[in-house]
Amino acid sequence: MAMRSAILIPRSVQVLGARSQSVFSHVEMGPPDAILGVTEAFKKDTNPKKMNLGVGAYRDDEGKPFVLPSVRQAEQKLAEQKHDKEYLPIGGLPAFCENAAKLALGKDSFVIKTGRNATVQGISGTGALRIGAAFLEKHLKGNKTVYMPNPTWGNHIPLFKHCNFEVKQYRYYQPKTCGLDLQGALEDISKIPEGSVILLHACAHNPTGVDPSASEWLEIEKVVRKRNLFPFLDMAYQGFATGDIDRDASAVRIFSQSGPMCLAQSFAKNMGLYGERVGAFSLLCDSKEEAERCMSQIKILIRPMYSNPPVHGARIANLILSDPDLYAQWLADVKLMAGRIISMRERLQQGLKNEGSTRNWQHIVNQIGMFCFTGMKPHQVEKLTKDYSVYLTKDGRISVAGISSNNVDYLAHAIHNCTKD
Ligand SMILES: Cc1ncc(COP(=O)(O)O)c(C=O)c1O
Repeated sequence: MAMRSAILIPRSVQVLGARSQSVFSHVEMGPPDAILGVTEAFKKDTNPKKMNLGVGAYRDDEGKPFVLPSVRQAEQKLAEQKHDKEYLPIGGLPAFCENAAKLALGKDSFVIKTGRNATVQGISGTGALRIGAAFLEKHLKGNKTVYMPNPTWGNHIPLFKHCNFEVKQYRYYQPKTCGLDLQGALEDISKIPEGSVILLHACAHNPTGVDPSASEWLEIEKVVRKRNLFPFLDMAYQGFATGDIDRDASAVRIFSQSGPMCLAQSFAKNMGLYGERVGAFSLLCDSKEEAERCMSQIKILIRPMYSNPPVHGARIANLILSDPDLYAQWLADVKLMAGRIISMRERLQQGLKNEGSTRNWQHIVNQIGMFCFTGMKPHQVEKLTKDYSVYLTKDGRISVAGISSNNVDYLAHAIHNCTKD
């Protein structure tokens, strides 16, 4: 006993052992991420018929992750080229930035020709949004309020809050029709205080799958410019909405012709480069000289954030955008993915009819892109998960990309049985 008590415990260990005195004892357990939480629950389910319609990632008709043939070919070429692994510049791979801007704004874009865009590589779409929000926080004159569509992608709100923006929303979705509330949106936007930022989903709106038509975009753009708002377009799904990359970029091109704006691009979905984190941020300015000054400030913001972006994914995207054969293959790949999603929408709607559902499911085919906002109520969503092992977010959003020929009829049967009341 005497020997044991003689052992001296270092003070640092004593402090670590005394839990109540820990410097982090006040930190509360946070809630799991709404979408990643769905995947966790899905993984634990042992039902062989289970479906994960929560996560926004494309699956092939076997329900498997899909690496685009254009990406496989680009990777092969890159391997043969034996690149080094040196750092990229702060703003990323210059050729990638140029090609990403051309893809969004159009290869004949007047903005690009006159050098009025400051474009940098971002850590996918989220990182591009984050650079933009940080730049606007620091350099936009006027109030620090951002107006977002209601509903919007869940990450938009905390992302802008982290950059000290106040977040407000404008009407966008009409639950009665499961479509666009154009009048509500125009009315709300026309009342937003001048100088505020307005966030717009360029195409394939997440979570609703509801997009304005080209003429509706023109109406929205007119009001945004008249109110002197600063548009921030988030384009995470170029090509995914219609299968046509130019058609999907029409909102971006409309806004780019009428004044300054921000643009965030992601190559996660349209190139299937989810984990490679490839994106781009562009600031469209009034002159080349202004774009150069702003570019210098964007780099000053990026340097202490993550220093410089990852190189491999940007090389893949750049090769696809610059090699004519790979580009043609990629356009076909995008069409294939968008086409499969569109056909799953049609089959789900038909399946519900075949099941005898008397509800109007027209919105399943009218909505666009990866997601369908089904209009199911929370108790119906709960039943769908509990009784049929179909996993989705509580708001009734399903990722159509997660449906396949093998399970579309099962899903129609399950949805019908949960929406009879
Ligand atoms: C509307 C929207 N913006 C941006 C993103 C960003 O995605 P990532 O950071 O994976 O490119 C997503 C992804 O789901 C999205 O739906």
